[in-house]
Amino acid sequence: MLFFVDTANLDHIREASELGILDGVTTNPSLMAKEGVSGEKNILKHYRDICAIVGEGRDVSAEVIATDFKGMVEEGKRLADLHENIVVKVPMIREGVKAIAYFTDAGIRTNCTLVFSAGQALLAAKAGATYLSPFIGRIDDIGWDGMALIKEIAEIYNNSGFDTAILAASIRSPLHIIEAAKAGADVVTCPLSAILGLLNHPLTDIGLEKFLEDHRKANG
Ligand code: E4P
Repeated sequence: MLFFVDTANLDHIREASELGILDGVTTNPSLMAKEGVSGEKNILKHYRDICAIVGEGRDVSAEVIATDFKGMVEEGKRLADLHENIVVKVPMIREGVKAIAYFTDAGIRTNCTLVFSAGQALLAAKAGATYLSPFIGRIDDIGWDGMALIKEIAEIYNNSGFDTAILAASIRSPLHIIEAAKAGADVVTCPLSAILGLLNHPLTDIGLEKFLEDHRKANG
């Protein structure tokens, strides 16, 4: 399973990259705004900076703001031209499906975002999306079962032989990452804190302390 970090914060991206486990980055307009990145020139520069940090072969999702087909295509092409790592992130709306099909034909990789149902997942795969982003946490937030959707989509994609990768998004915790892996997600995108949370186990800390103490006793 691939690990993407879900942020536009350059320090977090650098830290995840230095950990040696990072496969890519996803951003969205809210995450860019949170970092104070605004204006087309600054936004494009920020994407270039992210690509430079992660290095070659690590996908960076950059989301279109336009919601009409023509606008999405123009904006998506500009984003894709920025760097070979860029994957154009397109919302799951009618015009978005058309845009994904267009980008697929043009050889431009896509991430279909804001996915909340198996029907939407089917449409995105039919249009040839490279990645599909079901929002686990936001489904849990309304009292539904986000992970059940991952399982359902994994079953559908396996049955139909779709190549679209399931990118479990809106991940909130280390447990979400583990559950997504078990449910059949190909990729998780999560805040750095959730990835680092996977490290923690009290028995590791206790065990390491004892090893070091025994070493100190034996070696003075
Ligand atoms: C996915 O690509 C989105 O950027 C993200 O996972 C949304 O997460 P949130 O629900 O925590 O905002």
